[in-house]
Amino acid sequence: MADNKIIVLKDISVSFDSEVILNNLNLYIKDGEFVTFLGPSGCGKTTTLRIIGGFVTPDKGDVLFNTKKINNLPPHKREVNTIFQKYALFPHLNVYENVAFGMRVQKKGENEIRNTVHEMLKMVNLSGYENRNVNSLSGGQQQRIAIARALANRPKVLLLDEPLGALDLKLRKDMQVELKNIQQKTGITFIFVTHDQEEALSMSDTVVVMDKGEIQQVGTPLDIYNEPKNAFVADFIGESNILDGIMHENYLVEFAGKKFDCLDCGFGKMEPVDVVIRPEDIEVVEPEKGHICGLVTSVTFKGVHYEIIVDVNGFKWMIQSTEVQNPGDKIGMILQPDDIHIMKKSKYSGAFGDYSAFSDEMYEEQHNKPITEEE
Ligand SMILES: Nc1ncnc2c1ncn2[C@@H]1O[C@H](COP(=O)(O)OP(=O)(O)OP(=O)(O)O)[C@@H](O)[C@H]1O
Ligand SMILES: [Mg+2]
Repeated sequence: MADNKIIVLKDISVSFDSEVILNNLNLYIKDGEFVTFLGPSGCGKTTTLRIIGGFVTPDKGDVLFNTKKINNLPPHKREVNTIFQKYALFPHLNVYENVAFGMRVQKKGENEIRNTVHEMLKMVNLSGYENRNVNSLSGGQQQRIAIARALANRPKVLLLDEPLGALDLKLRKDMQVELKNIQQKTGITFIFVTHDQEEALSMSDTVVVMDKGEIQQVGTPLDIYNEPKNAFVADFIGESNILDGIMHENYLVEFAGKKFDCLDCGFGKMEPVDVVIRPEDIEVVEPEKGHICGLVTSVTFKGVHYEIIVDVNGFKWMIQSTEVQNPGDKIGMILQPDDIHIMKKSKYSGAFGDYSAFSDEMYEEQHNKPITEEE
């Protein structure tokens, strides 16, 4: 994989109706990467894609393609193709003509068109479907034709806006693997949008986590999971217990009324921090053997593990464990230094990471009445 930046977004800002949609976005995308924009609905993922595709002009900032400024280059002149969530195949054309469409517009020769259509259909595992009516295809097959059609134009960059959103879960998983294979085979840069964190983690070389028109973190799936930058990222990617802490000195943090050894350094002396502990990292032991002791308030079987909510002085922790506990049990929790991840305080501090609301909802569901003070 080359290390050159195929796309650079520099100080990009966009407002619609005086509402800030993207706020000073800076991002580069390397040639040949599978990059995913991940974030909640309305955070600006599609708008960012549209800026790269040339369908939205930013109020401020530059878009570079292979170091050249392309701010004013119209979409059809960019070496970029887009696949939308609704794949928009041409219903009056068969599979062959759908894939050939872009090449006909470019007035390519019949031989080249035929070879390319066959090559692309082979790529998406639909050889032999040339004469089929696109309306007779399943959702997954239509999506693959849309991919073949986009690839036939031999773009340098493919933009995919939630392309798997309309598919059922099983098909979606199959298509994730297939898309990843196609990306690796062609070496084309894929910029993929999703709000499904598992999809993002399993498919991407690089994940860009966005919220409220700002990039919160850019990194590999492992970086994002293991070293979230702030409470938003920690909460959005997987489950997290997030506690208020104080960094006493390098490698020593206090939270939940105790001091713990940790692997983090570089914070100020006695600096307030957010502490993240993943539910699957907590070891459950006898109450007297634990670093922290709590009362189990609810247990849900999740297939692979149990999800256990534990009340520790009013803060509700989530633990994921293959061993069952029972509501009302007192348990101890062991935290090793590498289970503890320290983050700087941010505007998201305090907003996430306590499972109280979660466990109250569960109580109401299970008992069919709201939780009350006495309980
Ligand atoms: N043309 C437009 N005019 C006005 N507001 C817009 C326009 N396009 C987008 N917005 C607003 O910009 C914000 C970001 O929209 P965008 O479509 O980029 O979000 P998204 O992250 O793709 O969300 P989703 O996951 O729901 O697709 C939203 O609040 C949206 O309403
Ligand atoms: Mg969108």
